[in-house]
Amino acid sequence: MTDPDHHTLAGSGVTVPLLGVGTWAWGDRSTWGMGGYDRSLTRDSISEAWEASIDSGVTLFDTAEVYGKGESERIIGSLLAGDPDRAASARIATKFMPVPWKLNVRASLMASVTASIDRLGLESVDLYQLHGPISLRSQEALAEALAEAHQAGRIKAVGVSNYSIRETRAMATALGRNGLALATNQIEFSLLRRAPETTGLLGACRDLGVLPLAYSPIGQGRLTGKYSASNPPPAKRTFSNHPMALVDAVVAELRQIGEKHGGKTPSQVALNWIIAKGVLPIPGAKNRQQAEENAGALGWSIDEDDRRRLDACALTGTRTLRGRFWQHG
Ligand SMILES: NC(=O)c1ccc[n+]([C@@H]2O[C@H](COP(=O)([O-])OP(=O)(O)OC[C@H]3O[C@@H](n4cnc5c(N)ncnc54)[C@H](OP(=O)(O)O)[C@@H]3O)[C@@H](O)[C@H]2O)c1
Repeated sequence: MTDPDHHTLAGSGVTVPLLGVGTWAWGDRSTWGMGGYDRSLTRDSISEAWEASIDSGVTLFDTAEVYGKGESERIIGSLLAGDPDRAASARIATKFMPVPWKLNVRASLMASVTASIDRLGLESVDLYQLHGPISLRSQEALAEALAEAHQAGRIKAVGVSNYSIRETRAMATALGRNGLALATNQIEFSLLRRAPETTGLLGACRDLGVLPLAYSPIGQGRLTGKYSASNPPPAKRTFSNHPMALVDAVVAELRQIGEKHGGKTPSQVALNWIIAKGVLPIPGAKNRQQAEENAGALGWSIDEDDRRRLDACALTGTRTLRGRFWQHG
């Protein structure tokens, strides 16, 4: 029987909720300002975001070996160790960065996943993702490396990130040859970047049984309504970087639809639109208030008329990640 409140990751028994949490900001100084421009982002505020998320049923946490040079994984490791009750329901996804010099990809990937699970204090991760498609090694070589880590019991489900339609199909086939399923493709998808839907990537994922995860789903804060043309977000937030006058028009639509649904906030409506597409958003949360607000995207649905209005005002976003890939997102 299918559970409408969870997805099961293909090739594993791992279940995840309809919404997750992105943890790039946890321990990251350069883009998100921990210990720098954002003095309110602290270990305490992160602990509160963790607690509020899990208490609201948002139990999937997305990290990566490169976030804060491992610090995001270390912080999650200490939260897991210090909070066994919540840790029992947490699902952890992390990523391998296939930088060109990791030519011996089998050894590199095994070393990376081992270092990640050490930092996390786990025996295995629920989802292990290739951070991007740019590698000097073939999909086959990458798939074999993932299969070896899977066989060693270090990863439960396998995903990719920033993969095109062609690359997603190729990786699903290469993993299939190794007896593995491709569970997820993590992509930039939001009302400020609808391209994955209009290009057919979401449809291709659906056909392959691959669950898309949406990163930067609230446009790196732009869709929350707190930034505007007169108050732009801090520099370095290069995803969804449209002129704020265009963003303001989308936020105005989100506000109107939110009012119709009893005062839902722009972020909640923006995330609900993504969930309605069968995509799992992973908004970043720096504190309890953000985590609670984002969790309020669950438990209700926009209607068909709202969906049409939002589709019509969404920005496609033409820039691809490829040129910016090595910025660690
Ligand atoms: N695979 C990849 O290549 C890739 C690339 C990018 C991101 N990711 C993943 O996706 C996750 C999410 O993406 P993202 O962090 O780039 O962008 P995002 O989720 O769209 O935006 C997160 C930021 O928005 C602000 N925010 C969040 N909730 C809020 C709320 N309710 N009210 C007001 N402000 C709120 C916070 O920053 P402020 O408070 O400072 O404004 C927060 O750090 C990342 O953490 C990471 O796990 C993956």
